[in-house]
Amino acid sequence: MNKSTFALKGNIFYTPTPNQLVIHPQSYLVCENGLVAGIFEQLPEQYTNIPVEDHGNRLILPGLVDLHVHASQYAYRGLGMDMELLQWLESNAFPEESKFADLDYAKQAYSLFTQQLTESATTRACIFATLHRPATLLLTQLLEESGMRCYVGKVNMDRNCPDILQETTEESLAETRRWLEESKQFTKNKPMLTPRFTPTCTDELMAGLSQLQKEFNVPFQSHLSENIPEIEWVKELCPGTRFYGEAYSQFDLFGGNCPTVMAHCVWSDADERALMKQNGVFIAHCPQSNMNISSGIAPVKSYLLEGQKVGLGSDVAGGAHLSLFRAMTDAIQCSKLRWRLVDQNTPALTMPEALYMATKGGGELFGKVGSFEPGYAFDAIVMDDSDIPTTRTCNLAERLERVVYLSNGKPHAKYVQGEKLF
Ligand code: GUN
Ligand code: FE
Repeated sequence: MNKSTFALKGNIFYTPTPNQLVIHPQSYLVCENGLVAGIFEQLPEQYTNIPVEDHGNRLILPGLVDLHVHASQYAYRGLGMDMELLQWLESNAFPEESKFADLDYAKQAYSLFTQQLTESATTRACIFATLHRPATLLLTQLLEESGMRCYVGKVNMDRNCPDILQETTEESLAETRRWLEESKQFTKNKPMLTPRFTPTCTDELMAGLSQLQKEFNVPFQSHLSENIPEIEWVKELCPGTRFYGEAYSQFDLFGGNCPTVMAHCVWSDADERALMKQNGVFIAHCPQSNMNISSGIAPVKSYLLEGQKVGLGSDVAGGAHLSLFRAMTDAIQCSKLRWRLVDQNTPALTMPEALYMATKGGGELFGKVGSFEPGYAFDAIVMDDSDIPTTRTCNLAERLERVVYLSNGKPHAKYVQGEKLF
C-alpha cells in the first residue's frame, strides 16, 4: 500500500450542493495520493492496513476557501473603518501597501500573514499582494514553505494612485511578465493576474494583461461593482461600456477561457449578472468588508438561486477577520438584513449554503476542491468543539453550527492535498 494512503476517523461533513449537508457519523475518510478515495463506515478490505488517525468525536470538514484577501493589508486589519471605499483606499490601503517596496518590511508583514493564515481553517486562498514583484515572490515563497496552496497576485496600477505606488504601463507589464516567469519555480502556489480595479488601470494595461493571460494561461482577479461612487467613476473612465464588468470583458478578462474571480458584486445590474452567469465568473462575496466600508448588501442568495458561481472572501483589511467561519456567519446575518429591509421575496442564506460557499463554491476555482466526494483534493480540517461549553447535548448538525458561530476558527489538525500541516 502506497505510504501516502491513510484515513482520518471522526464525524465527517460536506456539502455537495448548496442545499445538502451530508453527515457521516464516526466514519473513515480515506486519502490516496492527495485525493479523497471515499468515506466508509468500516474500512474496506484493501484499506485494512493503512494508518488511521482517530479523531474521536471531533468534526472533520473540507478546508475552507478564501476567495478574496489582501495579504498586504493584514497589518492594519480592524483599523480605520469609518470611511467608504475610495477614501479608505487613500487613507489606509495605499500608505500601507507602499511599504512593501522595502523587502525587510515585506518579510515581517508577510511572515505574520502566512503564519496566521496557516493556523486558520483556510486551506486555499486568492491573495492580493502589492505591485512590488520581489515582495510578491517573497510572499509566495513563504506560502510554499507553509504547505498552503494559493493563488497570489502581483497588483497592477498605472493611474489614479499616489506617485510612490504608481507604475508606468510599460513597467507594470514588464514586471508582470518577469513575475509570471519567476513564479514558475513554485509548485503549490500559483500566480493570478491582479489589476487592482478599473479606476487604477488604463485600457492599455488591460490589453497587455489580456495578452499575458493568454500566453501564460493564468487566472484573473479584480474588484467589481463594490461601491456606488466607484461605479460612477468607472462610467466616466470607460464611456464605451454598458456596465462595469464590460471594462474587463472587452479585454477577454471576465470568465470564459479566463478563470476569473470578481470581488464584491454588491451592485451588479441585470446585464452584468447575465454575463457573469454566461461566462462562469466566480463572485467572491465579502460580507464583513461590505459592512465595514458601508458598500451595501450583496444579493448573494439571489446569486445562488440564479446559478452563479459564488464563494466567500474575508477581504482583509476591508474585513477585519481572516476567519472564513466568521465570513459564513456574516454572510448569513447580512442576508437576513437584506431579506428584512431590501427584498422580502428572497429568503436568508442557510447554514448549508454558507458552508457550500466557503468550501465547494469557492473551491471550484482550484479544480476539484472543497468537497469530500471521491477524486476531490484531500483538503481537510479537524475541529474540536469540546472547549465550547454548553449544558445541552447537541446532535452533529447542531455541533457544526456551534463550531461555525462560536469556535476561535483554529483547527485541531489541517491537511492540504493530503499533506498534514499540523
Ligand atoms: N477596490 C480596489 N482596491 C480595493 C481594496 O484594496 N479593497 C477593497 N475592499 N476594494 C478595493
Ligand atoms: Fe478587496
